[in-house]
Amino acid sequence: MAEYTDISFPPGFLWGCATSSHQVEGNCTNNDWWAWEREGGHIREGGVSGLACDHYNRFDEDFALSQELGHNAHRISIEWSRIEPQEGRWDMAEVDHYRRVLESMHRHGLTPFVTLHHFTNPLWFRDRGGWLNPQAPDLIARYAGFMARELGDAVPFWLTINEPMVTVTAGYLLGMFPPCVRDMAQALLVGKHLLLAHGRMYQAIKEATSHRPLVGPVLNMSDIQPQDPDSEGDRQAAQTVDTLLNEYFLVGLSLGVIPPPAGGGEEVAGLKGAWDFIGLNYYSRELISQQMLELISDGTLAPAGFVRHTPPGAELSLMGWEVYPVGFYKLIKRLSAYRVPIYVTENGTSVVDDRQRISYILRHLRQVHRAIGEGVDVRAYLHWSLTDNFEWAEGWQQWFGLVALEPGTLNRKPRPAAYVFRDIARANAITAEQFRAYLG
Ligand code: BGC
Repeated sequence: MAEYTDISFPPGFLWGCATSSHQVEGNCTNNDWWAWEREGGHIREGGVSGLACDHYNRFDEDFALSQELGHNAHRISIEWSRIEPQEGRWDMAEVDHYRRVLESMHRHGLTPFVTLHHFTNPLWFRDRGGWLNPQAPDLIARYAGFMARELGDAVPFWLTINEPMVTVTAGYLLGMFPPCVRDMAQALLVGKHLLLAHGRMYQAIKEATSHRPLVGPVLNMSDIQPQDPDSEGDRQAAQTVDTLLNEYFLVGLSLGVIPPPAGGGEEVAGLKGAWDFIGLNYYSRELISQQMLELISDGTLAPAGFVRHTPPGAELSLMGWEVYPVGFYKLIKRLSAYRVPIYVTENGTSVVDDRQRISYILRHLRQVHRAIGEGVDVRAYLHWSLTDNFEWAEGWQQWFGLVALEPGTLNRKPRPAAYVFRDIARANAITAEQFRAYLG
């Protein structure tokens, strides 16, 4: 039986949940996802985001609940398509809305983390070519600067673009997210534009506000390993995927270049060191085979043909993702080489049995703490997510929430994990007793 000890987190550690506009607000009618959902055939069980969690109207209630649940931080995203419904036209009523959202967070003792782009694009931006448009970085930087000018006094942490490499892979390589493309050349161009966009957004925010916010990217990282460690082909494939998915932004931002394969290592003014912290999203390990990489690279993978490899007998979430806590530790350690503080901006699991969620949280926090114990500067843990929400192509068929939504009324019903997490957040610590009770 495992030996557990009490562990505590550094003073001032931030605890809370992460969300995104399209997944929780409801009625984000002016973006590419809304349009895509309505085409039909893309979302599991024909789901649509619709009213989502009605967070647009219930934010105050949600933040009161977060406070009751012991949180002292919270991550939202601003819906670009609300703020700039047409190119160059700012909707000041929506700016006021987000000001009220931020005021409510502060009132409820929640340090705001604000993402400017979380997968969704305004329709006008899509119609101008979306991320393939060479002007995309400037267009989004103008919006970032505008937001920082309008709301800079209320936002200590700005996150530029959520999981840029998911936009690259799901949107342009695997055809799972709009615009549903499967083309390596386009994917790499989008990767280049996203890195440039981050750099320009970083500079635009810094120039627009005197409130000295911290600005960083949100990087999704998985522990990428060969499916068959004895196969040279799989090992090389895993290396290739790791370079593209895990390394690309890290190299780009630490050296100030567009690294291969999206670029040729050319320097970009203002990119080097354009991060005050790294936002890390971690969920799982990824096993890569040469065969799968070949199918993806030449665009012959059938739509929805992407199959995640998992070891026989592995513990899986409803998403089919392997529960692999040690990968979290490995990636945090790897990030520590860049000498910028790390904020966990997402980690969570979709399960029916809440005991599995509790166990997932405890095991992952243990790995965070292990890295901290070895000197890594980790400052926050934001769980994905507060409530169940619209899980993109999976629609309403996933359960990531610490809090369930009552069908029909959308009333918030905290699950047992919400209270375990509350006790941890309030104590800034986990006791050996808690570990024993839930991990056995
Ligand atoms: C995304 C979230 C998503 C979560 C679970 C992350 O990749 O940022 O929007 O809901 O994973 O799939």
